[in-house]
Amino acid sequence: MTDTGKSRFTRRQFCGNSAILGCLGALTGRLGAWAVDSPSAISTNGAGSLRAHAAARGLLYGTAVMPQLLDIDGFAAGKTADPYTQLIAKQANILVAETSMKWGPLRPTPDTFDFTQADRMMRFASLADQRVRGHNLCWHENVPGWLTATANKDNARQILTHHIEVVAAHFRGKLHSWDVVNEAIKPTDGLPDGLRKTIWFDLIGPDYLELAFRTAAAADPQAKLTYNDYGIELDTPAQSEKRAKVLVLLRRFKAKGVPIHAVGVQSHLDATGPQPGRGLREFIREAAKMDLEVYITEMDVNTHAVVGGPDAQDAAVAAVYLDYLRLVLAEPNVPIALTWGITSANSWLNKLHGSQSTRADGARERPLPFDDDLKPTSAFVALREAIDATHTVMTGVAKS
Ligand code: XIL
Repeated sequence: MTDTGKSRFTRRQFCGNSAILGCLGALTGRLGAWAVDSPSAISTNGAGSLRAHAAARGLLYGTAVMPQLLDIDGFAAGKTADPYTQLIAKQANILVAETSMKWGPLRPTPDTFDFTQADRMMRFASLADQRVRGHNLCWHENVPGWLTATANKDNARQILTHHIEVVAAHFRGKLHSWDVVNEAIKPTDGLPDGLRKTIWFDLIGPDYLELAFRTAAAADPQAKLTYNDYGIELDTPAQSEKRAKVLVLLRRFKAKGVPIHAVGVQSHLDATGPQPGRGLREFIREAAKMDLEVYITEMDVNTHAVVGGPDAQDAAVAAVYLDYLRLVLAEPNVPIALTWGITSANSWLNKLHGSQSTRADGARERPLPFDDDLKPTSAFVALREAIDATHTVMTGVAKS
């Protein structure tokens, strides 16, 4: 395999190339799996980076980041020794704030806005010549205590629109896209149109989504406005139903002239169990018919039920990434894929339960293209291969 993006393997060809690659066999059962011999020996920099491979196909590849972890001054001075900071700059051509643009960090009090960390990330992205996604303007989680304590039916509209006006205006013209509303569909809540029962629904009613999108469009006419959700990837009955409800929402938006440009598919995937397939592909094509782009916004592959050690986890994760990205990136209206973090050291999956592992063997999960030591895993190679296999070269989308 070279770093130039020349190699093109189907999974079978890929596995068959035993001079370079070793397949570890059917470790995950359903998928089979492959792994790469010594992925840590692979050159990941320059032309070998995910960033370069994505740019060559006109795609954006990126990651969620915590600006607190970045040595931005060192990077600005051209002499950061911090490997994590270097990794983010080298691998991603788009970033999203894992938490810094959510209400919690941005809104310490009802009257104040704290853009410190979000602005640090913007500065870094500018230095590293990266695009930025905003995440998010309206969600039911990470809402400050003062909001739940003081919002009521009389003031909720004003609180929501004021937040969106100030925040979207702060970043006006600088963002690639905004997740305007996050996770608003939950059919099991039993509300009309499958809407989730949230503080915003309770206080404003079903129109809060439209209100959020119209307010965001007025405050930042350049950002691509996105509806973002999870649990819409699989062909299971529950996820198929949720996907259908998201389509209903998108069609209603389009019919009413609500400004929306994209739908975000979070893509928190599971290495075991059912995998995404035809339903998601049809969903992406339905979005295309509405002139909507589809962004893969928060991809990772949990390994809580993968039996075996690190190699087994890596093989299973890599197989899921390869199949998934080949499925979605084959669609011409999917120009972006971001992972939710880039190293297992910083994955939310390893932090969800504090220091307690989600795995029976107590081991850490390995859901991302780099491991705890910032070494590339088989998932890195899978991502790169899937990016290379994208058959549509898009233009005018990516930065190098
Ligand atoms: C998660 C972050 O990764 C965690 O660090 C935080 O504690 C909770 O939120 N869907 C989303 C993201 O849209 O904002 C979530 O991020 C993960 C699920």
